[in-house]
This record gives sequence, C-alpha cells and structure tokens, in this order.
Amino acid sequence: MKAIILAGGRGSRLYPLTLVASKQLQAVYDKPMIYYPLTVLMAAGIREFCVITTPEDQPRFQALLGDGRQWGISIEYRVQERPAGIAQAFLIAADFIAGEAVTLALGDNIFVGGDAIPRALAEFSGGALIFAYRVTNPRDYGVVEFDAEGRVLSLEEKPREPRSHYAVPGLYIFDSDVVGIARGLKPSARGELEITDVNRAYMDAGRLKVRRLSRGFAWLDAGTSAALQEAAAFIETVERRQGIKFGCPEEAALQRGFLNLEAFAALTQMMPDCEYRHYLEAVAAEARDHALVMTRDAPGERTG
Ligand code: G1P
Repeated sequence: MKAIILAGGRGSRLYPLTLVASKQLQAVYDKPMIYYPLTVLMAAGIREFCVITTPEDQPRFQALLGDGRQWGISIEYRVQERPAGIAQAFLIAADFIAGEAVTLALGDNIFVGGDAIPRALAEFSGGALIFAYRVTNPRDYGVVEFDAEGRVLSLEEKPREPRSHYAVPGLYIFDSDVVGIARGLKPSARGELEITDVNRAYMDAGRLKVRRLSRGFAWLDAGTSAALQEAAAFIETVERRQGIKFGCPEEAALQRGFLNLEAFAALTQMMPDCEYRHYLEAVAAEARDHALVMTRDAPGERTG
C-alpha cells in the first residue's frame, strides 16, 4: 500500500496565515498540520509516500519532511499547479501509484484515536473503502447515506439537503483502478475533479465499502481559523492529560520498526533542547525498558 498526501490549495480561508506558509504547514498545537495524517498512515504501516503541494510551497515541505529517510520511509513530491480538485491527485501521482493500491489523505484532516484506520488498511482487499463520521454540519462535506448493513445508498458532495448526518472524512483507500476512474472524470459545476465522483464510480460498480467511525473517535479538519484553533485545543487537552503525543512521525517509525533504537536516538540528539525532544527521549527510554523485559522473559534467553 502506498499513500498520497494532498497538501495543495491556496488556503484562502486562513489568509493572512497562508501568505507565507501553506495551510498544511500551520501549527496544530505543537506540530505542523501535515505531521498528523502522515503519522496515522505510518502507524498503519505505510512506508511509501507522495506529497502533492503547490509549486510555491514545495521547497518548504521538502525542508520539513525531506525524502523521509530519517524516518525509515520514502517521500516523493509532486506539484498541483492549481487547485483543480482532490481527484486530480491520482492523475498527478499516476506514475507513483504504478499499479498498486493507494490511500489518499488530505493534508488538513486530523484523525485521533482507535484502530479503525490501521485495521481498514490491513483488511483492505480491493475496490474502495471510505469512512463515515457523524457531524452536525454535513452540508460542508461529502455525505454518505447507508443502510443497517453498511451498504452505501447514496453519496453527495456538499448537498444542500443532506440525506444523513454522516460526512466522508478525507482518508480514502483505493485499488489501482482509481487512476483509470480519475482519468474518466469530468469537472463538476465548481470546475473540480471531485473525490465524491470517484467514490460514486466505485459505488455504481458495487465495489465501495464504508466503515462508520465510532463514538469517541475524533476527526477534525483545520481549514478555517476556528477549526484550526479547535483542533489545537483538542490535541493539547488529550496530550497534556495523557502525557502522550499524536502526530509524531518519529514515534510511529520506532513503533513500526522503521527505525531501530539507535537510529531513533541519533535523530533525537539532533533536535534542540525542547519539549518535543524530551517526549521522544521518554518514548525511547520506555521502548528500551520494554525490550529489556522482553529479552529477560523470552524462553531460552535466561542467563540465571
Ligand atoms: C473535501 C471533499 C469532501 C470531504 C472533505 C473532507 O471537501 O470534497 O467530500 O468530505 O474534503 O475534509 P473540501 O476540502 O473541498 O471542503
């Protein structure tokens, strides 16, 4: 499974913040926004990424994320010249996808909690898989209507009269047919290649599955100043309460074994003296203790 993170767009709703850095580079509490979707995908085991940005912002994303090697992953970059719709990502990154299954995540979508996403990725077996999340403002999103068995009845992009309260979050899993489907799309009334039209093509072919995200799972988008502030407050509340962080690519890399403890320690040593570094050092200490316990308790490893 490969992954595309779409981080294009003008971020006009966040003006003037976005005069100097794109929306997905803005801070959500203590980390840049794009760290959150990236980390969710890494924690689910994905190692091959393509980040799509505006032409102006590409160097800034490269300065932040590099080629991914420091986290044991690979990151390629592509440019979206102008915001012509989410589904354009599949045309821009067709050579990256190269006939494999792909997850598309929007760079301003934040997912916190549960194992729904790693589980969905592990169980994915073709077609398309999307999620449904109950919101009070479905009109602002793609809206999915489904029956008791989870069969999709309808899908609409920002409907004036939504048929359900369930929005489709910006994380979609597709088989490689998605490139051909995207090639056949016509721009919508707003002039964009719509992700909802891609999902609808899978639905019409009977190849779309939807999974409802449970109560307690948090899906936030950070497209407006108020939403950005709310997302930051939410992350801060949970992080401070639990003493854990969300959206640390280093931590996900260690957990998934993309980095060993030595490489991880080398990475933290390059960081300035700051809370982020202290947190990662504590993560490493815990992992080291855990490894020691595992070695001590492993049969055949006992020395005394
Ligand atoms: C886009 C999609 C919409 C989806 C949303 C999730 O909306 O078009 O279907 O529900 O992302 O964040 P937009 O970013 O255009 O508001």
